[in-house]
Amino acid sequence: MESIGHLPVLAAEVLEALAPAPGETAFDGTAGRGGHAELMARRIGPSGTLVLMDLDAGNLAFAAERIRALPQPPRVIPVHGNFDRIASVLQSQGLRADVVMADLGFASTQMDDPARGFAFQTEGPLDMRLDRSQGPTAAELLGRMRESELADLIYNLGEDPFARRIARAIIDRRNEGGLRTTQDLSQAVVRAYGARARQSRVHPATRTFMALRIAVNGELNSLNNFLSDLGKAASEAASGPASWLAVGGRVAILSFHSLEDRSTKRAFADWERQGWATRITRKPMVASEMEQRDNPRSRSAKLRAARIESRKEDASAAG
Ligand SMILES: C[S@@+](CC[C@H](N)C(=O)[O-])C[C@H]1O[C@@H](n2cnc3c(N)ncnc32)[C@H](O)[C@@H]1O
Repeated sequence: MESIGHLPVLAAEVLEALAPAPGETAFDGTAGRGGHAELMARRIGPSGTLVLMDLDAGNLAFAAERIRALPQPPRVIPVHGNFDRIASVLQSQGLRADVVMADLGFASTQMDDPARGFAFQTEGPLDMRLDRSQGPTAAELLGRMRESELADLIYNLGEDPFARRIARAIIDRRNEGGLRTTQDLSQAVVRAYGARARQSRVHPATRTFMALRIAVNGELNSLNNFLSDLGKAASEAASGPASWLAVGGRVAILSFHSLEDRSTKRAFADWERQGWATRITRKPMVASEMEQRDNPRSRSAKLRAARIESRKEDASAAG
């Protein structure tokens, strides 16, 4: 078996919030390298069912194999695709989820593979697709964007204060015919930063690469669709009719970007106001200092979780 190559973030906290129990059905929308999935699989045991999804076919296969190799694995149902298809996936299997999780973004193995084009430190094609079977690559996206669109994207998704200057430098590079690789892009950003590059705490290209990755993969749309479908299912579960989400079910989202966390926070608060759910975390859980030291990726992690409820009489009083 190839190496796991990814440490699950906030693993103990995720497990505590989701509290998977023997025989339950769990849905992991971002199987990745199977770290969180393995922990859930051990808890739900051989009478449980684990649905695994991932946009990355390689990661999905790895995670499924990892779980099936456990001494007493649950039933494993791997599905290649976007977790925003949760409703149709569970309905078509006739399943009701007790546990739902998403650990957003990319796995370390994807970042560490230069051929995937996620990393500004190494040379590779400007790809950045989590699902290499479809969709435009970062190069294709950059090839057709207007300068103002690109500046907005880098500002909104990357929160880089030099977005306009960076967009100008990238378009210049494109016009020179030299925007094909991760290094071409990285160098254009460094040029835009000029002398400020030396004062920057992180590499100047960090935010631009993050913004492009989020855009290439439509990551915010996927999360918003996922939350919206979960909200609909929670509302159905709360008021009685059969739903693919169980009353008493737990949902946990691990996010790494302020816009992702904001969407999750708003959705959970809304579900609580409507009487469909109770927040398990009022404030997001973050990694301990020790975890942040051992796993730098955990530094920006925020975990929020909610429990699906049957409709309460005093729902309007919930804050
Ligand atoms: C942070 S990793 C998950 C790591 C996993 N929890 C573990 O412990 O190994 C995120 C994974 O989600 C996948 N992914 C990201 N967005 C997705 C989406 N909208 N639908 C399905 N998979 C997605 C990525 O391809 C990546 O493999």
